[in-house]
Amino acid sequence: MSELDYDSLAAQAQALLSGAGNAVSKAANLSALIYQALPSVNWAGFYFLEGDVLVLGPFQGKPACVSIPVGEGVCGTAAARRVTQRVADVHAFEGHIVCDPESRSELVVPLVLGDELLGVLDVDSPQPGRFSAEDEAGLARLAELFVQSVAV
Ligand code: SME
Repeated sequence: MSELDYDSLAAQAQALLSGAGNAVSKAANLSALIYQALPSVNWAGFYFLEGDVLVLGPFQGKPACVSIPVGEGVCGTAAARRVTQRVADVHAFEGHIVCDPESRSELVVPLVLGDELLGVLDVDSPQPGRFSAEDEAGLARLAELFVQSVAV
C-alpha cells in the first residue's frame, strides 16, 4: 500500500478546522476526515479530559466505552504519560480496554495545549500493526492542528 498523503490530509484538516465551530464540531469533522481517509480503520475519535477521566467525544465507528480513567487502557496511558501510544497488537498491551473486539492495533495521540491535557485522539484498526511511524507523525500533525484550532 502506498503511503497516505498526510500533506494533503493536513491541508484538508486545516480548512475544516479554521472555519466556524467549537471543539465538538471540529472534533466531529476531524474524526470523519480521518475515518474516511485512512484505509483499514474501524474507529477514529476523541476522548476529552474531565477531572481525571477521559470522556467519549465525537467519533466514527461502533459505539465505544464512555469513560476511561487516566492511566488505564491505551488511551489512559497516552493521557497519563502525555506520550503517543502506537500499539501494533492490542492483545499484547496490558490493560487494553476492548470497545470493538475487531480492533487489533491502535494509535493514541495526547492532545496537549501548553501545560494542559485536553484529551486524546484515538484511531483503531482491525489489522495488526496497521500504524507506521509515518502514520504516527501524520496523526500527531492532525492532532496539533486540532489543538491549535480550539486554542484561539
Ligand atoms: N482501546 C482503547 C479504548 C477506546 S476504544 O478503542 C475506542 C483503550 O484501551 O484505551
